Amino acid sequence: MTLGPASRHPRLRQRTIALVGLMGVGKSSVGRRLAATLDLPFRDADTEVEVAAGRTIPEIFEAFGEPAFRDGERRVIARLLDEGPMVLATGGGAFMNDETRALIAERAVSVWLKADLEILARRVARKDSRPLVRGKDQLTVLGDLAKVRYPVYAEADVTVELGETPHQESVQAVLAALEAHLGRESPNT
Ligand code: S3P
Repeated sequence: MTLGPASRHPRLRQRTIALVGLMGVGKSSVGRRLAATLDLPFRDADTEVEVAAGRTIPEIFEAFGEPAFRDGERRVIARLLDEGPMVLATGGGAFMNDETRALIAERAVSVWLKADLEILARRVARKDSRPLVRGKDQLTVLGDLAKVRYPVYAEADVTVELGETPHQESVQAVLAALEAHLGRESPNT
């Protein structure tokens, strides 16, 4: 009998796994599959903000501005971190907030999903749901965001480089990195 990751590494299921990284990297698509593999609930902070506000993210930006969105995002993530363990996909800017980052450090294990900016730009171009790139050159925006955000994303507990691989392979890469991280934290488990 082969044991699945849920039974192979029960410690992976004891703390929320917070996925961080730039838009388009697959925080939601990989996160959903990771949650299914570990038999944990999956929550998407962007979706939760939209539900709480009763509006889409572009509508929130349009009606109230980015600072109001950031405030909602901070509150929603604090609530979700209270509800864990779960796999939590954060929005690309969430980890930049000092309070959110401190809460994630306290209550979750954080994983920075990283991929080439060209790959992200191609994915982001397919959707019109992200106000920061609307009507702009995706690669330029992502490059500017990367300069500011990468040093902060690098504070995540684990970094996983993803290519244009199938989601299930990305899930395996995340699991391997998390297992290695937990092994380093406490070599006897
Ligand atoms: C943002 C990323 C988006 C969403 C919002 C702002 C950002 O989430 O929160 O449009 O600042 O990078 P995804 O990373 O899930 O696309």
